Amino acid sequence: MVNGTTIEIDTTEATPAREQTNSKGLELDPRPLLNAADGQVDIERLEKLSGQSVLHPKQFDRQTVVDLCRTAALLEATNVEPIKPLDGKIAITAFFEASTRTRLSFESAALRLDGKVLSVPDGRVTGMAKGESLADIGEMFNTYGDVVIMRHPDTNSVNEIRRNLDLPLINAGNGSGQHPTQALLDWYALLKWRPALASANCPESQRIHLGIVGTPGSMRAVKSFLGLSLLFVGAVDRITIVSEMADPVGLDLESAIEDCAVPVAVTNDVQEVLSSLDVIYINSIAFLGDSYRELDSRFKLRADSSLKPDAVIMHPLARRDELDTSLDATTHNMYFAQAAGAVFLRQALLIAVLGRLDKLAQIAE
Ligand code: CP
Repeated sequence: MVNGTTIEIDTTEATPAREQTNSKGLELDPRPLLNAADGQVDIERLEKLSGQSVLHPKQFDRQTVVDLCRTAALLEATNVEPIKPLDGKIAITAFFEASTRTRLSFESAALRLDGKVLSVPDGRVTGMAKGESLADIGEMFNTYGDVVIMRHPDTNSVNEIRRNLDLPLINAGNGSGQHPTQALLDWYALLKWRPALASANCPESQRIHLGIVGTPGSMRAVKSFLGLSLLFVGAVDRITIVSEMADPVGLDLESAIEDCAVPVAVTNDVQEVLSSLDVIYINSIAFLGDSYRELDSRFKLRADSSLKPDAVIMHPLARRDELDTSLDATTHNMYFAQAAGAVFLRQALLIAVLGRLDKLAQIAE
């Protein structure tokens, strides 16, 4: 049913678009997140994303994140392929730095909605190999597609391409800068796992102690996740950052943490906090200068680590030795489900940015 700017679906009838999304670990059902909102998805707030670039998590408020995640849940719980939400739209995925998940999940998201994709899987196949500037590449993109999804090792690349690019730009990772769509899909996984976290009145028993094992200042995925997590006051009880660095937070987030009601502590002793954490977000790969480095690699999680029985582990992947494969077959493994949900969250974002939210009304008809 469509009621003004609200889409309402009967989730008792809905079956997930795909029964099995990840091979091991937790399965995350999208329906409880919809049921928690009486099956309603408010798309009015998301309409403001039409034609907008997505560059930084600070663009988002809490309710927009929740509405995007509910839209992703709607897409995951429903077979939307017949209504072809992105028919006639072309997404350009321009990746000047390696990726497994981000590029392919964006491309899968667009193709499954009947959008088309122009893919640059490696910047060396563009005129960049001949010394072409990003600004000139942006100028060319204007006539080739409708949205650009770019990853680049240079933090300033977003500004460079936007000198001439008129299309909406989705930042898929800029050096040690930000990875905003990763943070959105991270929260999509968390809200599916515990829908009460979406509520401004999250019951005390449902609130989480969030542990971040890594260095937000140098790791873009961790930085964006921490930035978005600060919005969830009252759901995130406290945050503990575990890092071997003396000052792991970095300038970008220092003032946001100071202004936020969520207490944030830093320790270099993972054993001090591990058994009190409900959610552990871990990463070791940092992009520093012009290459990947391993930071905080002395912190390792294994199936026999002293975790709370119902604690869940998140990881943006790719992993190194910090996340042992002995955890894969356990219920602590939320990282595969987190990655699997990326397609639906990125579908929701593409539909909003490309101004096709009205198409979703047909789901409920
Ligand atoms: N999480 C993430 O950004 O993965 P990829 O580097 O494989 O895109």
